[in-house]
Amino acid sequence: MIALATASQKGGVGKTTLCINLAYSLARRGWKTLLVDTDPQGGVGLSLARSARSKAGFYDYLCGLERDAERLVLATRLPELEILPAGQYDNAARLGWPAQEVAFRLDDLLRAAERRGVDCLILDTAAGLNAMSESVVKACDYVILPQQSEPLAMRSVPHMLETLSRFRSEGARVKVAGILLTMVSQESQVSQKVAAELRALLPRDMIFDQNVPRLNSFLEASALGIPVALLKKNPPPEALLYDQIAAEIERRTGLIDEGEAPSHTHSGLLD
Ligand SMILES: Nc1ncnc2c1ncn2[C@@H]1O[C@H](COP(=O)(O)OP(=O)(O)OP(=O)(O)O)[C@@H](O)[C@H]1O
Ligand SMILES: [Mg+2]
Repeated sequence: MIALATASQKGGVGKTTLCINLAYSLARRGWKTLLVDTDPQGGVGLSLARSARSKAGFYDYLCGLERDAERLVLATRLPELEILPAGQYDNAARLGWPAQEVAFRLDDLLRAAERRGVDCLILDTAAGLNAMSESVVKACDYVILPQQSEPLAMRSVPHMLETLSRFRSEGARVKVAGILLTMVSQESQVSQKVAAELRALLPRDMIFDQNVPRLNSFLEASALGIPVALLKKNPPPEALLYDQIAAEIERRTGLIDEGEAPSHTHSGLLD
């Protein structure tokens, strides 16, 4: 199993959009995927599972109000995709949680997911690396850094990378799966220029080959809390780019061995 978190210093960069769409693509590609919402204000999967908002979830587990993770997980219409909603943050906050305890509970959650046979655990975080998001990222194997293609990126990317190297020096195993350029605008020269500059500045491997363009369909889908693939009966072309990102994740995290020969794994079209 790989545990993969998103993180960003700034809010609204597309973390939740990434998590929903990526989890959906990974599940469609056959990986048993559990999407965990660790953002107290999180809206992950509101429509994937309509009752998500009022359910117990991540925070109830974290503070010990519910000790059985199994009971908190919501099924979706895709058998390979399950969701652990954020749950009742206020109840949990009232009980409080020491940082050490949080790390233990997160490890428990990871182990519970592994026992369920989860291949990909995707954790959405709140904006800014607050104490909770820091603990979540530290508990994971990989972190994806969505980065808006805007001038501020030149400062925020190095800062984020420094923060992650601090986590590692503090004993965390988390590695950067990659920086994902989001909301890249076809019309804006500034946006295009920043995307090109970041690619020139950073090691090639550090940035996902696939950018996420700025498109209205993402706004529409997130208003409904669904992956873009479910917006219309026939998925719009932008849904495919998450398959591309999922394929990159498979390679970058070792979910699929790069050496694995496709000819050994093909399936036939006819019986
Ligand atoms: N590629 C895109 N094109 C256009 N709009 C987008 C795109 N990605 C995300 N958005 C919109 O931008 C807003 C913020 O996106 P999202 O909620 O995914 O960001 P976030 O990083 O999770 O925010 P927060 O830090 O508040 O949790 C949403 O309204 C979303 O629909
Ligand atoms: Mg979010």
